Amino acid sequence: GLKIAVIGGGSSYTPELVEGFIRYYNELPVRELWLVDIDAGLHKLNIVGNLAKRMVEKSGLPIEVHLTTDRRKAIAGADFVSTQMRVGMLDARGRDESIPLKYGVIGQETTGPGGMMKALRTIPVLLDVCRDIEELAPNAWLLNFTNPAGMVTEAILKYSNVRSIGLCNAPIGLIKQTSAKYNVEPDRIYAEFVGLNHLHWITRVDVEGEDKLDEMLADTTGYSATNVPAREWDPEFLKSLGAIPSYYLKYFYMTDAMLEEQLDSVKTGGNRAEVVKRVEAELFELYNDPELKDKPKQLEQRGGAFYSEAAINLMRSLHNGTNDIQTLNVANKGTIDFLPDDASIEVNCVVTKNGPLPLPLTKIPRSAVGLMHAVKTYEQLAIDAAVTGDRGLAIQAMAHHPLVPSVEVAIQMLDDMLEANKEYLPQF
Ligand code: NAD
Ligand code: G6P
Ligand code: MN
Ligand code: MN
Repeated sequence: GLKIAVIGGGSSYTPELVEGFIRYYNELPVRELWLVDIDAGLHKLNIVGNLAKRMVEKSGLPIEVHLTTDRRKAIAGADFVSTQMRVGMLDARGRDESIPLKYGVIGQETTGPGGMMKALRTIPVLLDVCRDIEELAPNAWLLNFTNPAGMVTEAILKYSNVRSIGLCNAPIGLIKQTSAKYNVEPDRIYAEFVGLNHLHWITRVDVEGEDKLDEMLADTTGYSATNVPAREWDPEFLKSLGAIPSYYLKYFYMTDAMLEEQLDSVKTGGNRAEVVKRVEAELFELYNDPELKDKPKQLEQRGGAFYSEAAINLMRSLHNGTNDIQTLNVANKGTIDFLPDDASIEVNCVVTKNGPLPLPLTKIPRSAVGLMHAVKTYEQLAIDAAVTGDRGLAIQAMAHHPLVPSVEVAIQMLDDMLEANKEYLPQF
């Protein structure tokens, strides 16, 4: 049987994973599931962990569920390590979302200055997890969900020897929404992705062999998730772009309207961190009910709904060597010819037993090249700033982010955010 360690096990998403392990037990025989958290997360870990135990008990499967704060014990000998942690918890997310707004800049947890701060807090912790994996489970696969997932994955690929793959629920979300629209099974759909995590474009959608891209581009609602405001695309823009943009691209393509939307929501329901706090409180109350033995429907209110499908699909394919195609965050190595080889990119890959192999791209929208390159430049500077604590690199990263209007704003905002995060930034 397999040993799985989940770092950040107290996450409200954990029941998703457990449901997947139960459903696919025959292909992925999990014997030990170790849910790891820190002291501050113990309360959540206990509630989620007990639900996990009830779910397993109901299934009748011989899966042991362990709850622990001993990360090394959990990692030792693991076959798969999956990470879903939030360094600084939702309060830090709230600051990532609110501080940029003071400077008239988008405040978002993975996009823009907020995402940069999350990267600075998170990358050193993930690299520390990697040190433990290198020592205690050198053959394990690390599936990284921790955001900003593309940047964190790139840091791991560059600065550790761990076999790591970055994952996002958005590509599966596109497939699910297309499957509902055309009333066909997901495996009858082929979609080609190009770009970076939370910055991808879909350049091909075949439904049962029929090219549906133009038809999908005519639908200005695009595809979406609950965490990003549903604003319609301009029909002429969408048609001439010739690719379906990630919902996160709304922050780049409709910056003014999205900023207005954020400023409005602060006055009404609060920023996304505050909304998530309320959703979480509701979820944990449900999880705490000893009669509950399944993943509740309410989990779909989270933006990362169904993310476990991505995780389980990947573990199943790596374990069994099924050579199927999945959209993953991997090292570029020439796939996108204008980006560095060591850049992480989000593209379709064949998942072999030895890991994912990116497929050659059939299309890159010409108008997407500049933005992809600019955001990757910011990401690489920010990753190196996170690892070194170098202020000059942090200034360069912030100033070169396409959503930051000037050097003056970049430096003021950086100082403000470094100060607000200092508890979590020992490297600075
Ligand atoms: P959460 O706030 O519930 O945090 C999960 C757990 O991480 C908490 O229980 C917390 O105590 C724990 N934690 C904090 N610091 C830790 C540390 N140093 N070591 C171990 N555990 C630690 O978060 P969430 O909303 O469940 O999201 C978890 C992470 O996954 C976030 O980074 C989020 O952005 C990411 N996420 C990514 C995707 C994706 O598409 N890649 C989807 C969903 C969530
Ligand atoms: C999804 C993204 C995830 C992100 C989540 C946020 O769209 O792919 O990477 O973590 O939304 O959802 P939340 O409910 O935390 O706002
Ligand atoms: Mn250590
Ligand atoms: Mn994501």
